[in-house]
Amino acid sequence: MVQDYESDDLLQQYLLFHYGKAKDRMPYGFGPEFGAPFPARVVREFVEAPPHAAAARALDLGCAVGRSSFELARHFGEVVGIDYSAAFIRAAHTMREAGEMRIRVKEEGRRYRDVCVSVHSDILRSRVHFEVGDAMALRDGLSDFDVVLMLNVIDRLHTPLLGLERLAGLVKPGGQLVLSSPYTWMAEFTPVERWLGHETGGGSSFDALQSRLEADFALKRRVDFPMVIREHSRKYQYCVPEVSVWRRR
Ligand SMILES: C[S@@+](CC[C@H](N)C(=O)[O-])C[C@H]1O[C@@H](n2cnc3c(N)ncnc32)[C@H](O)[C@@H]1O
Repeated sequence: MVQDYESDDLLQQYLLFHYGKAKDRMPYGFGPEFGAPFPARVVREFVEAPPHAAAARALDLGCAVGRSSFELARHFGEVVGIDYSAAFIRAAHTMREAGEMRIRVKEEGRRYRDVCVSVHSDILRSRVHFEVGDAMALRDGLSDFDVVLMLNVIDRLHTPLLGLERLAGLVKPGGQLVLSSPYTWMAEFTPVERWLGHETGGGSSFDALQSRLEADFALKRRVDFPMVIREHSRKYQYCVPEVSVWRRR
């Protein structure tokens, strides 16, 4: 089934995935729980804080409902969060303005439960600017970022190699690029002949990604980094995206 990033069920899932409390994201003691939502853990674990936050700028491509953008605002004076989905960006705006939202998470069938989600009060939400945009056709004026994050988006692009090629123009020399992907290739998003690795005769996605990036970026870290998305009270998606951290040459 194709994921429709404008659908309400997916919006509620992502709001819970990004902002939900541990007990709401994974109520079972025997289930995997990693302490904080994936977007927050990625920023905490992989993004290098700049010496002077005020002048530092970050870009979050495919930010969805915005958690990683808010986490970046702990360290960067200006954060731009961009996503293709208007519904996700509307929710991100609400989180920016109100700092919290009441969402309805699916229990089973048509039974839902209300849950309150919020942005931590120690985050300066005004540092974040959200906008609808396409990673494959970004507006002018996006360059010289100290860090660019692109989490779990590459396998949603129609031409991933072209998307990767554009990243060098966004990060300033010496800046950081943090990518993650579970490489869940689907023909509905990416024609099969463009899946990373396909054109090299079935090599790994990471090998194709590295050979496209290495002229402009040096690889610093490569880590398996798990996450869980709750679909309903008895169904959870366990995923192990590969996070790679790069330094712009
Ligand atoms: C699997 S979700 C990941 C969201 C978020 N980064 C995370 O890790 O939770 C993929 C996101 O990429 C967005 N997306 C897909 N194609 C895009 C494009 N061409 N430009 C910008 N965002 C895109 C979707 O709307 C969705 O929010």
